[in-house]
Amino acid sequence: MTWDAPSANRPRSRPRNRNRLFLAVLALAAGCLLRGPAPKPADNSYCYVCHINYKGEKLTRSHELAGIGCEKCHGESDRHSADEDGLTPPEVMYPKARIAPACMACHPGSRLANEKAHTPMLAEAAGSAACTECHGKHRLAVRTRRWDKATGKLLAAEGVRMMQENSPAGSAR
Ligand code: HEC
Ligand code: HEC
Ligand code: HEC
Ligand code: HEC
Repeated sequence: MTWDAPSANRPRSRPRNRNRLFLAVLALAAGCLLRGPAPKPADNSYCYVCHINYKGEKLTRSHELAGIGCEKCHGESDRHSADEDGLTPPEVMYPKARIAPACMACHPGSRLANEKAHTPMLAEAAGSAACTECHGKHRLAVRTRRWDKATGKLLAAEGVRMMQENSPAGSAR
């Protein structure tokens, strides 16, 4: 028997109950689409073992709270994390031209247009202005490793350095 087949012993109130259930499910689904379920904060502790200086950094923090951890933007990077000599690059790095497109995959230009500060950027070609010029202090002031951010090739390795909680972050590249 299908749900719609007439049946002598089905109570008459049944269709109304089904409608109510349908409406409740619809409202729940609509709520999820509009707000999304509250995200669980991302767990970045694996990366903080070495990158403790990113704890509390603004770009990291706002995304961490929204459930978007380092891994979402830089890949799982297990080999990088396990390499105590620090010669293996993380899986995803960002040459300047790739920054805006990566951010705009989640923050489309149509939404960014509400913010006046974005007008000059949106008038230019995507990628010509890096979002991270204005958002966060996400760059390292001191580098001991240089990889080609597009190919991952190791360009320079100068000694070893422990990154401290107060290691400077946030100067120009
Ligand atoms: C995987 C999706 C995703 C990516 C990629 C992403 N964001 Fe976000 N971003 C979010 C979510 C989700 C939030 C939480 C608030 C919201 O919904 O806007 C957020 C919040 C923000 C906020 C607002 C913080 C606040 O408290 O008001 C800024 C600014 C921001 N992101 C900038 C960036 C920049 C710059 C990049 C690129 C480096 C980027 N985002 C990449 C999803 C993303
Ligand atoms: C010239 C500086 C500048 C650049 C470049 C810039 N922003 Fe912003 N952005 C701001 C300012 C100022 C605000 C408003 C204050 C705030 O929320 O930080 C803002 C707000 C935001 C917000 C939160 C408010 C909203 O409209 O939802 C997001 C998300 C955001 N920017 C993402 C981006 C992304 C993605 C890029 C790169 C494609 C970018 N911004 C480039 C200055 C900039
Ligand atoms: C929303 C995406 C996003 C998240 C989350 C994120 N990053 Fe990044 N990260 C970027 C982008 C984009 C750049 C390139 C920034 C630039 O060159 O201006 C970058 C650059 C870096 C750099 C290189 C900075 C430099 O000076 O060249 C390091 C180190 C880094 N991230 C570590 C981390 C760690 C550790 C976490 C988590 C604790 C994290 N990132 C979380 C997007 C992200
Ligand atoms: C064993 C220590 C260690 C762990 C764990 C670690 N990193 Fe790193 N990471 C480094 C070192 C060392 C550098 C080079 C820093 C410098 O130049 O001084 C680096 C650099 C980076 C960069 C900069 C790449 C660029 O653009 O030049 C990113 C991004 C990054 N790490 C992401 C991550 C992420 C994501 C995790 C967690 C999944 C992580 N790291 C875990 C040691 C570590």
